[in-house]
Amino acid sequence: MKTINLILIGFGNIGKGFSTVLLQKEKFLAELGYKFNVRAICEWNGSIIDNDSNGINLNEVLELAKNKKFNEHKNFSKKTAKDVLEEVDADIALELTPGNIRTGEPGLSNIINALNSGKHVVTSNKSPIALKFNEIMELAKRHNKKILYEATVAGAIPLFNLCRETLQINTINNIYGIFNGTTNYILTKMTDEGTDFNTALKEAQELGYAERDASYDLNGYDTAVKVVIAANALIGRKINFSDVKISGITGITEEAIKLAKEHNYVIKLIGDCNKSEVSLRLIRKDSPLNIGGSLNAVMIDTDIAKDITIIGRGAGAIETSSSIFSDILKIAKEI
Ligand SMILES: NC(=O)c1ccc[n+]([C@@H]2O[C@H](COP(=O)([O-])OP(=O)(O)OC[C@H]3O[C@@H](n4cnc5c(N)ncnc54)[C@H](OP(=O)(O)O)[C@@H]3O)[C@@H](O)[C@H]2O)c1
Repeated sequence: MKTINLILIGFGNIGKGFSTVLLQKEKFLAELGYKFNVRAICEWNGSIIDNDSNGINLNEVLELAKNKKFNEHKNFSKKTAKDVLEEVDADIALELTPGNIRTGEPGLSNIINALNSGKHVVTSNKSPIALKFNEIMELAKRHNKKILYEATVAGAIPLFNLCRETLQINTINNIYGIFNGTTNYILTKMTDEGTDFNTALKEAQELGYAERDASYDLNGYDTAVKVVIAANALIGRKINFSDVKISGITGITEEAIKLAKEHNYVIKLIGDCNKSEVSLRLIRKDSPLNIGGSLNAVMIDTDIAKDITIIGRGAGAIETSSSIFSDILKIAKEI
């Protein structure tokens, strides 16, 4: 049995979702030959570190976190993620904090510190990857470590793995599609049920689809960040966030949606890697991109396989863990 030691940075939705799946799949992972030990969990105000190298009892931490008592754990101390990355021996650091698109922090520093301390990194945090893609990749290469980020674009959809492994022989001409569940939910509600914008937004927030700050979704920034990552990682375009022409969904009118419908079209917020653009576009009703609710749909335009569309959950703590595990298992195989 191979033991893989992990450090979790950020114990919010994704940190807890990942831990829940780790507990649920423990037996299956053992059958694959792996035991994953969580050696430390870092939050902004301190960290829990195991002191016997056997791994933290995740059931106990999940229960404490549910009752907002994370810092009452017997092994809690004021140590920061930086301290933990320097002090604790681990194979992979999971960077799962919220992203700030202007600074990339706190994730950017966490990723840099993790690589500098000799750890591989798996992250769901889009901002640092979009902001400093080339710098982070170069740093990882210099340290001979991996940084994988399947969960950053379209949550549970295995975009990077599919393109890099299964579609290896193909040249990818473009990647475009629906990368944001909140805006797709709102547009679907407005199209299918005639719901007005504000009511649809309120529903999306009540259902927990929206990011902390809904404007990030609505103004197209969230989609733009994903466009930057996919463009750099998969079609070799060295673009930054500031290169993306961004318009969101706030200007959409009920009349435009109605008119589109009358002509057999729907209006969708589309991110386009080749054009470095996020914009509302008319999509034919029979297009594979005409998907409803909070789903994401990504179109991969290739030279050999031609068009491939993948549809799935773009968010959700449990769903997104599927992508995080694919990255972790990829690294675990190579350790
Ligand atoms: N939720 C999804 O479905 C989804 C899907 C794909 C990608 N993502 C991305 O994954 C990341 C995590 O998402 P989430 O939904 O889990 O966010 P979240 O619920 O806000 O959790 C983030 C956690 O990180 C903690 N944190 C904040 N600053 C920190 C610091 N400096 N050091 C250590 N921990 C810190 C937060 O603590 P406090 O709450 O006390 O501030 C919180 O517990 C984000 O970047 C998000 O964009 C999320």
